Parts: sequence; structure tokens; C-alpha cells
Amino acid sequence: MTASRDQNIGRTPHIPVLLRPLLAACAPVRGLWLDGTFGAGGYTRGLLEAGADCVIGVDRDPLALQMAQAWAGEYGDRLRLVAGNFSELDAHAGALLDGVVLDLGVSSMQIDQPERGFSFQKDGPLDMRMSQSGESAADLVNTASEARLADILYHFGEERASRRIARAIVEARSPDPITTTLRLADIISKCLPRPKPGQSHPATRSFQALRIAVNEEFTELVQGLVAAERALKPGGLLAVVTFHSLEDRVVKRFFQQAAGEEPNANRYAPVKENTTARFELVTRKAIGPDDVELAENPRARSAKLRVARRTAAPAKDVDAGTLDAPDLPQSQSKKAQTQKGQR
Ligand SMILES: C[S@@+](CC[C@H](N)C(=O)[O-])C[C@H]1O[C@@H](n2cnc3c(N)ncnc32)[C@H](O)[C@@H]1O
Repeated sequence: MTASRDQNIGRTPHIPVLLRPLLAACAPVRGLWLDGTFGAGGYTRGLLEAGADCVIGVDRDPLALQMAQAWAGEYGDRLRLVAGNFSELDAHAGALLDGVVLDLGVSSMQIDQPERGFSFQKDGPLDMRMSQSGESAADLVNTASEARLADILYHFGEERASRRIARAIVEARSPDPITTTLRLADIISKCLPRPKPGQSHPATRSFQALRIAVNEEFTELVQGLVAAERALKPGGLLAVVTFHSLEDRVVKRFFQQAAGEEPNANRYAPVKENTTARFELVTRKAIGPDDVELAENPRARSAKLRVARRTAAPAKDVDAGTLDAPDLPQSQSKKAQTQKGQR
């Protein structure tokens, strides 16, 4: 989540979102914690100041860890930084944990730097890779089939004009590939009605969708939750902050299932075996920002915090399908792969 549009990365204040309620829900904070989305280190510092003995800060963005070098020394061996994905957080931890925090999405440093290619407000290369490696948004936009692009916009951005936008992208990219954020934003804007005052930019949903696809955010989220379950001690806490309803739905389902509190959708279905709960819910309802936080940081508006406590029951693998994690139709992905191979 970003907190400023300041262009100067060194001065960009990143206001940690929902940190106060997170620390309150996790109190007393003790022992070994892992912050799977280190970013500017706001949560990590909060946990260390609140009493964690040691925090392992993980981020897939090498720049986030590089920036922390300026202050990490203050905490000596109480802070360990690891470059990697939170989907493998149990391997990064190498020991059982007292707590895991995940603050999903992008940071101020990422979105406010035009050269990272996340923003439709400022021109930059169409990149969007948090890890700065692998397939970029430009690669995706210029090579995916029209059907795959439409699926990405629809499933990951809930964009109702997905087909219209996908068609416009495919028409525009040949013979002149789309390589900059503002050109893509302009192509998308022309497919949609002009926004009314107060409405978000027309490219908001499409940029979210492409970012999710480029960074495989739902695969990371599901695997990260499962990895946290494996890594936590009995009594250990898992706190997750989400920024849109698609993410929150996955976290909510995961916690409900793991706590054995899943609502039975079909009242005629046979009564399920009473499985041992792997988590207990600490927050029964998601916590959002209060008025004070909203006044300080309007971008916290859509943030939601959920916290659960690990029990002693053995960890289980979870099928992503049962968590309602958005995914692309398999056939389209395969078609896109083939098309890519032909180019
Ligand atoms: C919203 S920011 C976190 C901000 C942080 N809580 C703070 O207070 O400074 C999200 C960070 O998580 C990182 N990130 C996102 N997905 C990740 C993943 N799957 N694995 C590791 N890091 C990830 C991003 O690179 C970004 O730096």
C-alpha cells in the first residue's frame, strides 16, 4: 500500500497500514517473527519495538532490502533480511515461528517510482515486476492472446469491459508494441466512459489485473498462507492485511476452513466430519482503518486485517480452488503459451 505520491524515493514516507490494530491483536509480541512483505520495514520495526526478540524480513524486491541497509544495523542480530518470496516463508525461517505478518500489495517505493512501471499516473516502462526479474507487463501485454488478456482483466481486475480492452490492446500493439505505462493507460481509457468526479482512473482495474498476473499474486498468497501454517508454533499468530476484495475473500476462506468454521453452502449436503481446527480466529470480523488512520492515510481506505492463532493440529495442504482464489481458465493459458511460442 502506498502512502505518498512523492517522486523522490529517498523522501517517500511509507505509512504502514493498520499497524496499530495489528500490534494490538497480536499483543504481547514475543519471540521469533517473520514479516513476509518487508517493504519499507514499517511492520518489522513495529514488531521489534513491541517486543519481538527477532524478526526475519522477507521481500522479493531487492531494492526494498537494499534501502533497509541504511537503518537495519540499529537492531543488530534482532533483524535478519532475506530476499525471496513469502510462498516459501517456512524455508526462509528455518525454525518454528511465533508470528507471521503479510501486508499484501505494492509499496510506495514501487508505485511512486515511474521506472518500476506500476503507475498509470506517470510515464515509465511497462514493467510491474516486484522482483525485477522474469516476464514484465510489457512482455505479457505484447505477447498474450486476446482471450488471455481478457481473462486476466476480468478475473484479476473484475473489469467488465475486459473483452473491449483486450481487443484494443491487440489492435494497438501491432506493429508498434506497447512499452510504456501512459500509452497503455491511454488505450484503456479510450475503451471506457470518462470518469465522473470522484471516480477512480479508468485504468485502475486493468493495471491491478496485470500486476497480479505478472507477480502471480494469488499463487503466492495461497502458498504463503499454507507455508505460514507449516511454519507457526502452536499458539503462533498469522496476521494478514489485504487491499481488495479478491484478496480478502481468499484470506477469509482460508481462516474459516482452517478454523473449521466454514459456512455449509448446501444445507442438504452430508454433515462434514468434525476436523480438528488448525487455527482459531482472533478477529472474527475483518478490521479496517479507524477515522484517525484514514485522516492520516486515505490510501488505507480499503485495507482489511485478519488475524488467527495456530493450534497444535497438524498442518494440511489446501486446494486453491476451495479458497475461491481467482484463476485463469486453463485452456486459455495453454493457448497463450502456444501463441507465445509461435512469435
Ligand atoms: C505493502 S508493501 C509492505 C509494506 C510494509 N508492511 C511496511 O510497513 O513498510 C508490500 C511489499 O511486499 C513485497 N511483496 C509482495 N508480494 C511478495 C511476495 N509474494 N513475496 C515477498 N515479498 C512480496 C513487495 O515487494 C512490497 O515491498
